[in-house]
Amino acid sequence: MQRSSGATTSMLMSASLSGRMRGRTIRWRWIAICGGALLALTALATSLAWTSIFDSVLSLQLALTPNSRSYNSWLAPTVPIFFDIYMFNWTNADKFPEEKPNFEELGPYRYLERRKHVNITYHPNNGTIGYRTVRSWVWDPSNNASLDDNITTLNVIAASAIYRARFWGYFQQKGLSMGLAMFGHGISISKLARELLFEGYEDGLLDFAKTLPASTTGGAPLVDRFGWFYSRNNTDTDGYMEVSSGTADGLPGQILKWNHEDHISFYNGECAKLSGSAGEFMPRNLTEESKLTMFVPDLCRTVNMEFVDSGLMDGLHYHKYHVNERTFDNSSTSPENTCYCNGPCAWGGVMNVSACRFGSPAFITLPHFLHGDPALQEYVTGMRPDPDKHSFYFAVEPKLGVPLDVAGRFQFNVYVEPNDYIALYEKVPRMLFPIFWVEQKAKVDERIVSELRTVRAILDWGSTVCACAAVAFAIIVTVITCYTSKPDYKKAKDIIHEKTKDEAEIKLNPT
Ligand SMILES: *[C@@H]1O[C@H](CO)[C@@H](O)[C@H](O)[C@H]1NC(C)=O
Ligand SMILES: *[C@@H]1O[C@H](CO)[C@@H](O)[C@H](O)[C@H]1NC(C)=O
Ligand SMILES: *[C@@H]1O[C@H](CO)[C@@H](O)[C@H](O)[C@H]1NC(C)=O
Ligand SMILES: *[C@@H]1O[C@H](CO)[C@@H](O)[C@H](O)[C@H]1NC(C)=O
Ligand SMILES: *[C@@H]1O[C@H](CO)[C@@H](O)[C@H](O)[C@H]1NC(C)=O
Ligand SMILES: *[C@@H]1O[C@H](CO)[C@@H](O)[C@H](O)[C@H]1NC(C)=O
Ligand SMILES: *[C@@H]1O[C@H](CO)[C@@H](O)[C@H](O)[C@H]1NC(C)=O
Ligand SMILES: *[C@@H]1O[C@H](CO)[C@@H](O)[C@H](O)[C@H]1NC(C)=O
Repeated sequence: MQRSSGATTSMLMSASLSGRMRGRTIRWRWIAICGGALLALTALATSLAWTSIFDSVLSLQLALTPNSRSYNSWLAPTVPIFFDIYMFNWTNADKFPEEKPNFEELGPYRYLERRKHVNITYHPNNGTIGYRTVRSWVWDPSNNASLDDNITTLNVIAASAIYRARFWGYFQQKGLSMGLAMFGHGISISKLARELLFEGYEDGLLDFAKTLPASTTGGAPLVDRFGWFYSRNNTDTDGYMEVSSGTADGLPGQILKWNHEDHISFYNGECAKLSGSAGEFMPRNLTEESKLTMFVPDLCRTVNMEFVDSGLMDGLHYHKYHVNERTFDNSSTSPENTCYCNGPCAWGGVMNVSACRFGSPAFITLPHFLHGDPALQEYVTGMRPDPDKHSFYFAVEPKLGVPLDVAGRFQFNVYVEPNDYIALYEKVPRMLFPIFWVEQKAKVDERIVSELRTVRAILDWGSTVCACAAVAFAIIVTVITCYTSKPDYKKAKDIIHEKTKDEAEIKLNPT
């Protein structure tokens, strides 16, 4: 009895086990078929929607939020930036104005520039991020030029004072004329490169300016030394920026507010519009017709760059956009630029930045007056414009909008004009005096280029790979279905058959 009951139990168990096992294989096949079909469909959908999926993943990575990939590199960019300064040495200053000023380019005086974004504030309510940029410059030991070069240039302190006084009355202007003579000011000045750049030099007129009412100095901060970059190291000179953080659909890094204002107060109409990239993020899907719009704080304006050419950089495709004849044109060929003139338009290819430099006679051009009005060259000698060396360009990976090779170049000039009341300027022609030009150059390294090549490959081939995967899964599903359908019918029947047999056996052996 015990034996037989034991045998029945074991038989029962084995019967139910084999039945369950057969049931399981069927279930696994169905799961495989359904799963395979699902994978095939997913792969197909992914393949079709690949660009959108890629775009949204990229957008998430590029957004300026503390967890994104781009945030840390944005915070303190590690791509080295070379800040090269070229000074113009005025070699025939003692013969002015009888002889046209002749300029000899000196330099580069190379510094390594480091940028840091500080005082960052998030505004999640409107998807913006506010910050300041602190820049520092370190003298590059590979320099061939020396900071002890003795350079002759225009006496800019006098030129500024005279320009600011141009609408004063006769007696005030005569007073200035005497003051200049008293302080020993000539038309030119000879200083060491280090003094002209970061260290600055003292001047009696600067101390005198401190005693004047703010209206005469245009509200400029009062300084005790003068140098082009004096007191700029480790400070924030670009002002407070508010840009899009790109968390929504939009592009990150597009300027919305500058110094708490949503327009540029120095210009009117269209020119007052604040728009464009703050320099780090470019639109994606760029074509040859696209314009790169960038806000340049040094120029206090938005600049449009147009396509020049395309090429390969270490196997990566790029589009190059540059500042051309139209960008800084006065109204002669580009009427939309009229609102930048602020009164009578100056020469073509010249940007009057006087208004955003406290009324100083500051005018910006491309180096060596590249793309400028030929009249600019008539008053000087020694300018040799060369598009290869002097253009302002951005080379960008067009699909991803990542800048690969960037050269921001411009020349700083001082405007002079004859003034009957001021002895020093009685005989000067109306002209632009070139002082120096700068080049800020950055190029991504080999490692980033190869990373970008991978990203481009994923973008370009992802769709195809997913389509292939879809086909592969579809084939697998078909194979499984064909393999299981016919022979499995038989097996299912066998199982039913066996089951009945088992039940019969149980009935035959009760207890
Ligand atoms: C600049 O020009 C002046 C006048 O010609 C000359 O004496 C001086 O040596 C030049 N400076 C440099 C650094 O070449
Ligand atoms: C950042 O904020 C701190 C405190 O609010 C301030 O002391 C500092 O000057 C700010 N930095 C810049 C560059 O404005
Ligand atoms: C976004 O909101 C903040 C306050 O939450 C405000 O200070 C800022 O000006 C706003 N920016 C824009 C562009 O509207
Ligand atoms: C700028 O400041 C850094 C220190 O933060 C210093 O190492 C560098 O020499 C300074 N640059 C100039 C041009 O003075
Ligand atoms: C100095 O001269 C060398 C050799 O001509 C050149 O390779 C290097 O780039 C120069 N350095 C700078 C800062 O221009
Ligand atoms: C620079 O050269 C001028 C003459 O060209 C001279 O008067 C002046 O003392 C020199 N400056 C220095 C610091 O050597
Ligand atoms: C880029 O263009 C593709 C189609 O060529 C489109 O699907 C994609 O959304 C575009 N991306 C952006 C960021 O505009
Ligand atoms: C430059 O701009 C200033 C202020 O915007 C204006 O007063 C001046 O007339 C302009 N100068 C020239 C030469 O156009």
